[in-house]
Amino acid sequence: MTQHLAAPLTGTSDDAPGHRHGWWQDAVIYQVYPRSFADGNGDGMGDLDGVRRRLPYLRDLGVDAVWLSPFYASPQADAGYDVADYRAIDPMFGTLLDADALIRDAHELNLRVIVDLVPNHSSDAHEWFKRALREGPGSALRERYHFRPGKGADGELPPNDWESIFGGPAWTRTTDPDGTPGDWYLHLFAPEQPDFNWDHPAVADEFRSILRFWLDMGVDGFRVDVAHGLVKAPGLPDIGGAGQLRLLGNDAMPFFDQDGVHEIYRQWRRILDEYPGDRIAVAEAWTPTVERTANYVRPDELHQAFNFQYLGTSWVGSELREVIDASLAAMRPVGAPATWVLSNHDVTRHATRFASPPGGGTQTREAGDRTLGLRRARAATLLMLALPGSAYVYQGEELGLPDVTDLPDEARQDPSYFRADGQDGFRDGCRVPIPWTREGSSYGFGGGGSWLPQPEGWGALSVEAQTGDPGSTLELYRAALAARKEHPGLGAGDAVEWLDAPEGVLAFARPGFVCTVNTTGTAVRIPAHGRVLVASGPVAVDGAEAELPADTTVWWTV
Ligand code: GLC
Repeated sequence: MTQHLAAPLTGTSDDAPGHRHGWWQDAVIYQVYPRSFADGNGDGMGDLDGVRRRLPYLRDLGVDAVWLSPFYASPQADAGYDVADYRAIDPMFGTLLDADALIRDAHELNLRVIVDLVPNHSSDAHEWFKRALREGPGSALRERYHFRPGKGADGELPPNDWESIFGGPAWTRTTDPDGTPGDWYLHLFAPEQPDFNWDHPAVADEFRSILRFWLDMGVDGFRVDVAHGLVKAPGLPDIGGAGQLRLLGNDAMPFFDQDGVHEIYRQWRRILDEYPGDRIAVAEAWTPTVERTANYVRPDELHQAFNFQYLGTSWVGSELREVIDASLAAMRPVGAPATWVLSNHDVTRHATRFASPPGGGTQTREAGDRTLGLRRARAATLLMLALPGSAYVYQGEELGLPDVTDLPDEARQDPSYFRADGQDGFRDGCRVPIPWTREGSSYGFGGGGSWLPQPEGWGALSVEAQTGDPGSTLELYRAALAARKEHPGLGAGDAVEWLDAPEGVLAFARPGFVCTVNTTGTAVRIPAHGRVLVASGPVAVDGAEAELPADTTVWWTV
């Protein structure tokens, strides 16, 4: 491959010092899960060609950028988050030429492209790891991962008490080349995902080079997988006690959110800044507080960090207001945009989370009340898109898709589903290929089947079925994204002005704009704040007053 295949997208951002007004400050970024978006060759698995053909749909939807989950060469032990070669495309998704064509076409449509970077661990099929195993103890390549002798008389116990996020011990014992049991290696996720040792300079060098490879390919940025996990506490200390997974996201852990990760991101920022066209990185960092999250987006580090505290908040007015205030307050001193998100490929879709009583967390196994869930999801999205900052939309949420909660066991692929006590086991439900057409095999996903079965009735939720129907969720997203682009009061910013409102109702003003959200199950009367710009449900305006239905958001232009 030659360098600079696809030209960077330039011209739409303000090159102010420190990039304070870069494109990402208010971008709406659409997550494509390549396996499940569009299948160009009809083999039942989505691919890059499929994505490329559907780019006009994304342009018309009104998003600014696309983030693609991993498409790299991988044995797919964790749906591609186990990378064997960071510079190659898995044949099931296409080739580097397909990636180049995709980036080029996206730029022509004025869409930016963000790729996933998985620096915490590789696949066990990565050349370094395979050689490390093959060469046995003493191999220099073992230092690039975390190999340790086991505890106990014969080394039969794991080196420490850490648990894998997917369940079970975070260590797997190796077999030495002579066939005898050997050292253990660390994997915070599946055994097929050995953790890199980021204290080793070769690891850091390699990732700087991988960043440049993709920047040279023309990508506009990176989503950094497990950005909080790269550095482990010195000596890999025991945590003590069982049930570590319950602590995740709430407590400091010796393998997450260590201060040392920030030096890595400072180095990466310098690389990103060397390239023209405002290249960015967004951190997937699950931290205990929004303040800890803000550390990842200090001016010399990454540009955005997903606001998972917001994602995890129930549909309860007071809780939403609290997390919004805390998030904006945490981001203000560092000058980074709040980065809102409601769904992604790891959590139950918000139309299903909100279909059950509050408090279910980010993984819900119940289908709940679908009508209620969808009504709240539409209201929640409109709230999110009214908030200052950037927002991420996960493929299919614009169709109001529910999670598929009743997938048969034999169809499931999430590695965590098969391990006891893993935290994430039900992620297949949000990964079912999306419906494009009312009828036809796989509802227009591709010509053939679908790697996860699509439920009956999926076609009624398709892009085709919803296009042009003013009451559809797809048209709501289109209207909201168009209004967000046009209205000067929406998009970038770091504050909202709260207005008085009845219990369970949120009302806030931004310049020339008001957003009102009824999170309760009963209609409320509120002042009409101007002209209705977009509404997630039928709002009745009656002179100076309006009736805001249950679980409904209304945008007003003042
Ligand atoms: C991130 C990804 C998730 C993956 C895990 C391990 O959390 O979003 O899908 O399983 O990292 O790479």
